[in-house]
Amino acid sequence: MSTTDLINYFEDLDDFDQLEDGKRVSMIKNMSRDQKKHKVPVAAPVRLTAQLDAGQVFEFSYNASHHERQWIIDSLGSFYQMHWFDDVLQLIKGGKEASVYLCSGNETTGVSYLAAKVYRPRRFRNLRKDHLYREGRESLDENGHIITDDGMQYAMRKRTEYGRQLLHTSWIEHEVKTMQIFEQAGADVPAIFASGNNAILMSYVGEAEMAAPALNEIDLDPAEARQLFERVLANIEIMLAHDRVHGDLSAYNILYWDGEIILIDFPQAVSPKENRNAYLIFQRDVTRVCEYFTQQGVHSNPRAIADKLWRKYRYNTMPDMDPHFLNADSEDDVALWKRLKVT
Ligand SMILES: Nc1ncnc2c1ncn2[C@@H]1O[C@H](COP(=O)(O)OP(=O)(O)O)[C@@H](O)[C@H]1O
Ligand SMILES: [Mg+2]
Repeated sequence: MSTTDLINYFEDLDDFDQLEDGKRVSMIKNMSRDQKKHKVPVAAPVRLTAQLDAGQVFEFSYNASHHERQWIIDSLGSFYQMHWFDDVLQLIKGGKEASVYLCSGNETTGVSYLAAKVYRPRRFRNLRKDHLYREGRESLDENGHIITDDGMQYAMRKRTEYGRQLLHTSWIEHEVKTMQIFEQAGADVPAIFASGNNAILMSYVGEAEMAAPALNEIDLDPAEARQLFERVLANIEIMLAHDRVHGDLSAYNILYWDGEIILIDFPQAVSPKENRNAYLIFQRDVTRVCEYFTQQGVHSNPRAIADKLWRKYRYNTMPDMDPHFLNADSEDDVALWKRLKVT
């Protein structure tokens, strides 16, 4: 992997992100603040029914198209059967990669609403250079356990249909695991209620008629902007202290509600200890956050912030190098090894 590869990859990813979110933002920017409050339509009072495996009926209010309906049944049916939620009320946001639905929580969950994030099968196929994120990290099965089975590992290496399914599940389980670590560490992230079968159930941010906007959709007043900037940095630091870099952090993945921020969207989180690209990925996260807050009147030096935090937790700023790849008889290699060890 060269630095050029990495930069190209990020540029591809940027285009991809912009495409989808750009459309939505332009719609929202044309609205007044009052209208923004109602940007998520109230569910149409249509009830759909469907047969689940066990012959149980899965009914929901959300008026989905035929395809989407089947997809919801396949992805969320088992959660419904387990009484995590009683109804799928509406689509919060649908995209090429994942759709997030507002569900009414079953009384046993203790919450009125849940957010169900359902991944599209192609979600991680679009990450063409996904190995940059997967480097050094274990693959996880649907129970969050590390996959050690040779046959499964072979299928993933060969990218057979089964292997791709395993990789898909592994991305989702990484998102779950990362969110659980952060939640326990006191970071501002939604709580996970359940996961599996292509979906995550988490706490919902917003109210019945309005899901929380992301930071990129709103303007902050200067005092609040300063305070929230500090808060985002505190979250970035909590993540780093727990050996994780978000990997796709920006104003698009930070929700705003009631004066608070909530970070979301973690499948591509990387470990600074295990991934040699982690520092570049980290710099990009910090830079994107700083860019948003600069627009809100809070000026900062992203390079300096990233560098300071990285050093505080004593991570390497240079890629690690396995000594097996170096030749002890080569002056260049010896010099490189010394340089890597110093940083
Ligand atoms: N817990 C949540 N509560 C409210 N809205 C959410 C929640 N999680 C996600 N969303 C909404 O769904 C969108 C997509 O979720 P996200 O996790 O960012 O997936 P992706 O960007 O990969 O499609 C977010 O931008 C946000 O608008
Ligand atoms: Mg997102």
